[in-house]
Amino acid sequence: MPRIALLPDEVASQVAAGEVVERPASVVKELVENSIDAGAGRIEVAIARGGASMIRVVDDGIGMDRDDALLSLERHATSKIRTGHDLAKIHTLGFRGEALPSIASVARFRMSTRPHAELEGTEIIVNGGKIESVRAAGDAPGTQIEVRSLFYNLPARRKFLRSENTEVSHIQHQLLLQAIGHPKIGFISIRDQTLLFQAPPTIMLADRIRDLRGPELFEQLLEIEPISTDGITVSGFIGKAGASRATRAEQILFVNGRPVENITVQHGLREGYHTALMKGQYPVTFLFLQMDPESVDVNVHPAKREVRFREPDTVRNCVSEAVRKTIEADRQRWTQSFQRPSETARPAVQVPVIDATPVLIPTAEQFALRRDWAEFQPDSPGGAPLPVQVQALGKPKEFAGASPISAPATMPSIEPSVPLDFKLLGILGQLYILMESADGLVLVDQHAAHERILFERLRAQMESAGVPTQRLLIPLTVSVTPKDYDWIATNAQALEKMGFAMEPFGSSTLKIDGIPPYFTTDDPNVAIRQLVDELRSMTLTTSRLRMGEDVIAKTVCRHAIKANDELHPAEVEKLLRDLMACELPYCCPHGRPTMIQIGYAELEKKFGRKV
Ligand SMILES: Nc1ncnc2c1ncn2[C@@H]1O[C@H](COP(=O)(O)OP(=O)(O)OP(=O)(O)O)[C@@H](O)[C@H]1O
Ligand SMILES: [Mg+2]
Repeated sequence: MPRIALLPDEVASQVAAGEVVERPASVVKELVENSIDAGAGRIEVAIARGGASMIRVVDDGIGMDRDDALLSLERHATSKIRTGHDLAKIHTLGFRGEALPSIASVARFRMSTRPHAELEGTEIIVNGGKIESVRAAGDAPGTQIEVRSLFYNLPARRKFLRSENTEVSHIQHQLLLQAIGHPKIGFISIRDQTLLFQAPPTIMLADRIRDLRGPELFEQLLEIEPISTDGITVSGFIGKAGASRATRAEQILFVNGRPVENITVQHGLREGYHTALMKGQYPVTFLFLQMDPESVDVNVHPAKREVRFREPDTVRNCVSEAVRKTIEADRQRWTQSFQRPSETARPAVQVPVIDATPVLIPTAEQFALRRDWAEFQPDSPGGAPLPVQVQALGKPKEFAGASPISAPATMPSIEPSVPLDFKLLGILGQLYILMESADGLVLVDQHAAHERILFERLRAQMESAGVPTQRLLIPLTVSVTPKDYDWIATNAQALEKMGFAMEPFGSSTLKIDGIPPYFTTDDPNVAIRQLVDELRSMTLTTSRLRMGEDVIAKTVCRHAIKANDELHPAEVEKLLRDLMACELPYCCPHGRPTMIQIGYAELEKKFGRKV
């Protein structure tokens, strides 16, 4: 008696179903994907009792004749690929020929399908994987699939189903993904006879997002000007700087039309947003990547939720560039939204205002100096302070390139004669600068604003001349892995710009005799390793100085003007001018907003003048 036996088909299908059909939402996903692959222009999804008792998906796609309909229920039967070679260039959402037999093996299943050219269709009923009946049917052209009593023959699985509302929310998320990914298809979703949502077909992704996610979220989005680089096209919408979420729930990504999660893209996003994104926050995205199917492997996850890129670095660069350019372009729009109110446009409410003409400017430079680079000194490390002495370093012995100390880089700033595009109203609570713009009220957080200004100034200095190095009285020796050692040697110049003076000391040891002022640590061994790890996780074409920037962002926070610091009107004006001249004026280096606007429309709504 042999110990090994082939599993009966039904059992094999149930095993496969374990991976494909996790919950009602997986059934919805598979059926809707089949409808999309079948070229449907309209897809209707109805569910009852959270999908556990019934899921019905009706489409107007190409349908199937009787032979194909029967074959579609066989395992590994698919019309989407023919050879192993095809697996490397998949254009469709499905390709495994597993979904229908898997679903049919764990539910009571009814399919009615009819090609458009045929007068008669076919109805097939399957219970727990066994075909019960096949007969002619007269439904409309397209395909209808009804899945009842999901997991009725797998009580253990059924027990794992969560509350009805939880299952519905998973289904809704699936539908939202598919509907966003395919705006040209009309979607209708019905729950227990009530309409959940309806999305008419549209050619504009913007309309689809607005229809499904509402105008408020849409307002916070920026459209990516589609860019194609290295065979990858990035398009879609991303959240404005400062508009982020505490989870990734609103981070939607499509690769060749398939909704996926992908760490490479997440890194690219974070890099692109950089300081426009708060730590621990995630951007809102409706991101579309289009690329040659051969450069992406879609066959890496049982539910096809993940993909693997052939060249992840290229993808990450493309994403980060697209985000960076989009945020930058928004800068222009932002500046325009802060126009000085025209004196005649609104009946002037007589509020005493501070004269904003820049007559006091000559003294304002002192203000800039007061809390700038001149004051930017390292804080003592948490533990025992490293013995340091600030001085310029000569050319390091072996790694090329020197880091001369230069005078603080001056920021490009608006000429004092340029009138400000807003009108100062006053200061609220010794923190918020109140201004009037053409659109209404603008509040600026003076601390956040100053952080942004200092941050950009220091970064400019770092990029142009490098950070001054503090020479250590007693050089440190740090042992690193051979891989890290090579990396450090190759990137010595970038590290020098960040203020590190290192030289090789044996085959796996470095001698460090200078560190940047922002680098405070008790344990240089650990810190250097962390630095290398972090820098390595970033693409080299973006900024190698990012690590330094993070620390600068933390440090400027301590040096920026605080909430209760009372500012002279000229200082306020200088602050605002400097802020306006920043690359990214609307958020601080930690991604928090520096200013918010309360428009007239909102005020009118609040005062009940307008509904
Ligand atoms: N709604 C539909 N309209 C027309 N044909 C369909 C429909 N659903 C399924 N089919 C046909 O049945 C076949 C089997 O479907 P099934 O979902 O099991 O596999 P697949 O989509 O090819 O691959 P995967 O298992 O990755 O989803 C499909 O290849 C397709 O030809
Ligand atoms: Mg399929």
